[in-house]
Amino acid sequence: MVEPGPGEVLVSAEQIAKRTAELGAEISRDYEGREVLMLGILKGAFLFMADLARELTVPCELDFMAVSSYGSSTSSSGVVRIVKDLDAPIADKHVLLVEDIVDSGLTLSYLLKNLAARGPASLEICTLLSKPGRSGRDLPVRYVGFELPDVFVVGYGLDHAQKHRNLPHIAALEA
Ligand code: IMP
Ligand code: MG
Repeated sequence: MVEPGPGEVLVSAEQIAKRTAELGAEISRDYEGREVLMLGILKGAFLFMADLARELTVPCELDFMAVSSYGSSTSSSGVVRIVKDLDAPIADKHVLLVEDIVDSGLTLSYLLKNLAARGPASLEICTLLSKPGRSGRDLPVRYVGFELPDVFVVGYGLDHAQKHRNLPHIAALEA
């Protein structure tokens, strides 16, 4: 049996860099005069978080959370387990949740509820990728890098069975 692997490049490294700079500028404008707490969701968002953070001109703190959704490797079950929680409370902070991809939106809707209960001053979402045909579109996502068709993708943080996170671009997973 042939292992599925990265196929067609859907978003190049250059496109990612350009869009990340645009998002960084937009976020910096929106948060002018405030301090941002960037909250990255591991592991998928680690590269995007690192690149986006370097585009912000407003003061910012960084923290990470790791969640795992029970289910198969290519679809989300909606049952989310917090594997690593934040290091510090977020009460009265301006929290910007940084995600790799919104697919069904189940992971994010769980996280939003969980984080909102901790009393942040504000809570917004920035995702690198979104699959607009899916129910994730109903979530209040403020910043979106790219809209993708409904295909499974890998690279730039995103994995299939923990592989291909180190690719500099986003590629479709092909059998
Ligand atoms: P959701 O709960 O269905 O929105 O799924 C969100 C999580 O599933 C993302 O944070 C990813 O970790 C993973 N995921 C969803 N779609 C893809 C994909 O196309 N490639 C890799 N991971 C994905
Ligand atoms: Mg993820």
